[in-house]
This record gives sequence, C-alpha cells and structure tokens, in this order.
Amino acid sequence: MNTIAVVGSINLDIVIRVPRIPQVGETIHHGDLARHPGGKGANQAVAASLAGAKVSMIGSVGMDAAGSELLASLKAHHVDTRYVTPVTSTHTGTAIITVDTNGSNSIAIAEGANAVVEPGIVADAVDQLTPRAILCQREIPDTVIATAFSRRNSAALHVLNVSPVEQTANIPMDEIDLLVVNQIEAEQLVGTHRGAMDAATILAQRTRRGCIVTLGGKGLVAQIDGHKIEQPAYSVKVVDTTGAGDAFCGAFVAALLETQSPEHALLFGQAAGAIAATRHGAQPSMPDSSTIRALMQTA
Ligand code: RIB
Repeated sequence: MNTIAVVGSINLDIVIRVPRIPQVGETIHHGDLARHPGGKGANQAVAASLAGAKVSMIGSVGMDAAGSELLASLKAHHVDTRYVTPVTSTHTGTAIITVDTNGSNSIAIAEGANAVVEPGIVADAVDQLTPRAILCQREIPDTVIATAFSRRNSAALHVLNVSPVEQTANIPMDEIDLLVVNQIEAEQLVGTHRGAMDAATILAQRTRRGCIVTLGGKGLVAQIDGHKIEQPAYSVKVVDTTGAGDAFCGAFVAALLETQSPEHALLFGQAAGAIAATRHGAQPSMPDSSTIRALMQTA
C-alpha cells in the first residue's frame, strides 16, 4: 500500500452557520453551532485515507480534551497517529469558522500546538516512514515544512498545498514536485494580472514537476511535467465549501500514487472536493473512494 506522510495542522473547528458572514464590527444572530475535527493537515490525511492510501499524520496537539478528540477522529479514519506529538506548552489548534447560506466561509485560527511542531521530530518521523509521498500545507511553521521536504528519499513525491498563502520566502520550492493553490493564492503568488493557466505555468517553473490551480466551481488548470491540463468542475449543490480543497488535495495525492495519469488523479481529487462541498463541516465531509468513483461515473 502507498504510504503518505501528511505533515500539517490539526484543529478543532468551532462552526457557526449564519445567514451571512458578519462585517467588521457587526454581530449576526440566529446561528447554528457545530464542532468538528479539522485542520488542513488532518483533513487531508483523512481524505487520503478514505481514498484508499495508507496515511501517517505528523504534527502536534495540546494535552487537552480537544487534542484527545482529534486524535480519536484520525484513528477512527485509520490514520497512523504515532507521530502526532502531544505538547503541554499550549492548547490544541482551534479554528472559529462562520459559514453562510451560500456555503462560503471565513476562518480565524489560534494555532496553539500547530505552531510548536518540532522540526527534529518531523525529520525522524519522515526518515522512519520513508513515505511514497509527503503532503504539507501552510498551517505549521515554514521551518517544519522545509525540514519535511529536505528528507528526500528517491521515490517520494513532495506536494505542497500553499494554503494559507501569506509570504512564501522560506518555502524551498526546488524541493517540491507539485504545488496546489486556489485562484486567489495563485494571484497572490504571481500577481493579479495573470490568468490562471499563466499562473500555473509560472509557478510550475519554480518546482520540480508542476502546479495545479483550483478554480472552485470552474474546475482547475494545471501544468504538470510540461503538459497543460484544463478540467471543468463536477456540478453539485454546494452547502459548505469548508474542507473542499483539503478533500481535493488528499484524494488527488492518494490517486496519483495509484495511477500514471495526472489527469485521472486530478478528476478523482475534483470529485472528492465536489462531494465535500455538498456536506457540512470539514473533516466530516470527506468522501470515501466508492462515493468518489460513483460521482465520476455519473458525470
Ligand atoms: O481547510 C479547512 C480547514 O482550515 C478547517 O478545518 C480549519 O481548521 C482550517 O484549518
């Protein structure tokens, strides 16, 4: 089985569904409250596991009730948690999320344990696992991402979901095979005057193999191994986009380890993201492989 090491964040998501997302200084009433396991790293680990990969999570949680709950969710999804380090110095990562009736969201994060992931522990974990792929996002320190990607074994695929984008000066682009960004992140990285395919091409040149720009309801564009790819989105009824990008990343990487066709792996990831957007919450919205294949067959 293909092993993916996901090096990333683990959050408790406190979600309030509201008629619309509040402006600065505004209070909105009549919300529905929910709490879910989340964090881009943990979400992508669960997505990859449900898609059929063998997955190890590398990261940190606090030694509190939320940390125990999040570890339990990862284990329930058959994610290896031996390399998730409980820390006493701070709380488990927490995200406060508002979701409006269109399924759009705003997110505020208290990083907590995600900010104190130890590069040395990550290096040891990656060396012991010798994974076929390493998948990172930007919710842990850049030094940790750089450490994870520096432990190259010849077969490993290195994928970075540059989310959230912020400044990327400390990211070792030449150690990365594939970048995954959404349109806003792509614009922030290359400038707003570029079209999505231009952005994918420019960003691909900074990496070993390529870049994927996801476009939400408009599908995606990519430049991988010198080939340009454009694929439309699956048409679904969106209720909550939180975690849809994570579903895409986890399922895409799992599929790419199984197939020689980036196009097929992208379609598989797109179907996973589309299904996640039809469900509430981040981690609870991740689909399994049979549900993903069913959508691919009906489209
Ligand atoms: O991508 C969605 C995730 O972003 C949420 O689960 C939240 O925890 C934030 O990390």
